[in-house]
Amino acid sequence: MSEPLALRLDPSLAQPIYRQIYERFKEAIARGTLRPGERVPPVRGLAGELGVARGTVELAYQLLTSEGYLLARGPAGTVVSPQLSGRDTTPSPHKAPPTAPALPGLIAHGPGIRPFQLGLPALDAFPRALWSRLAGRRLRHTLPGELAYPDPCGFGPLREALAGYLSVSRGIACEPAQVLICAGYQGALDLITRTLLQPGDAVWHEDPGYPRGRQLMAAAGATLVPVPVDNDGLCVSEGERRAPQARFALVTPSQQSPTGVALSLPRRLALLDWAERSGAWIVEDDYDSEYRYASFPLPALKSLDRQGRVLYTGTFSKVLFPALRLGYLVVPKDLLPDFVRSQQVFASGCSELLQATLCDFFVEGHFSRHLKRTRTLYAERRQMLRSALEQRLGEAMHFDDLPGGLHLIGRIGGDDRAIAQRAHAAGLGLQALNSWCVEARREPALVMSFTNVKSAPEAAELAKRVAEVMEM
Ligand SMILES: Cc1ncc(COP(=O)(O)O)c(C=O)c1O
Repeated sequence: MSEPLALRLDPSLAQPIYRQIYERFKEAIARGTLRPGERVPPVRGLAGELGVARGTVELAYQLLTSEGYLLARGPAGTVVSPQLSGRDTTPSPHKAPPTAPALPGLIAHGPGIRPFQLGLPALDAFPRALWSRLAGRRLRHTLPGELAYPDPCGFGPLREALAGYLSVSRGIACEPAQVLICAGYQGALDLITRTLLQPGDAVWHEDPGYPRGRQLMAAAGATLVPVPVDNDGLCVSEGERRAPQARFALVTPSQQSPTGVALSLPRRLALLDWAERSGAWIVEDDYDSEYRYASFPLPALKSLDRQGRVLYTGTFSKVLFPALRLGYLVVPKDLLPDFVRSQQVFASGCSELLQATLCDFFVEGHFSRHLKRTRTLYAERRQMLRSALEQRLGEAMHFDDLPGGLHLIGRIGGDDRAIAQRAHAAGLGLQALNSWCVEARREPALVMSFTNVKSAPEAAELAKRVAEVMEM
């Protein structure tokens, strides 16, 4: 260390000790007292020096690691992230780039993560070393000709691998040519609007539902039609009543976002029937379908689509990591020429090198191993967080028994929006269920991701912070 790291802790402060340690490290990194690549004291040593429990230091280190300040290097110890070199980590209002005001009810985009933040997989569980090896190998073996412009529809071998995967795991029969690689669900929706949407077209969207999807459709000129969701998923008859001539329906049939309910078989058939009769397109957002803890994943709605009305989308944001910005869209055969033309005109924004690395990850079996590992990990983390909240909050919070997904829904009394606002001010990323609603009003509840809760002490600490914002 360049100069001794003076950690002044004050037990009389309301701020928990682990948080004080966390802040002191951030300040030391910003000031340059701790430099990129420099080793930080071992947990045991620092805990002894400060006279605090090891778990307290561990918690602070975990938080710093999850936010990218520290990097754990196994037996080589923990260091200040070398990637911080050359970056100014000083929080200065003059140097911060201007940011657009956050859109309401959104999954946060941008670097850094907050506890409970939705939409993120376990960022510590991604096999980075393996990925780097595969990416390095791809880079070394790239032939000069492969540095030219790539196929705008995506890397051929990846499309082939995905067609095979979708047939086995989601019951979808499609040819590789129908699989278009996009920059996540966002990229797939963008491609759909550029290819099929006419300004003013009515679009059904789930209420409550994923805000980004409807915001993107509205920005492309669609007229939004909120359609309520109940225990069987989207209320198709209500959609027909409100806008029978709608051109699109955005749905999350496997695991409705955020309620977690599955679209029932009668509703699936009714939705397909409506789309066939009215010539509408169903956009199936199959995000999170890989994660079910109590049963096997349900087949995709697309697997029932005999008339080619479903545009099926999948994303790697939840199984791998969102910064990858890779996903796919399966288009019906008759629409393929239109979609290919769109892909040729508008850049997909997906680096072929990353696609090729992902392809290797996929075909060499790492994807299915990662999925298996993370299913077990999430079942554990989900239970850990739920138990901690139950223990701390007792009757003040009741949980929905969600069959899968990456978040918990805890029913509470009081105003969920106000509680979520206090939580945000306290640095927590949980959300109010009602902030996902447009017209529908729901019983108050908090939506909380468990994917990055790494230990029981961390879960207990987080439960304590939830109790605080609930003013208990
Ligand atoms: C409902 C839903 N669909 C899709 C996505 C994935 O979006 P993308 O693939 O653009 O990262 C998310 C991310 O949080 C989501 O909540």
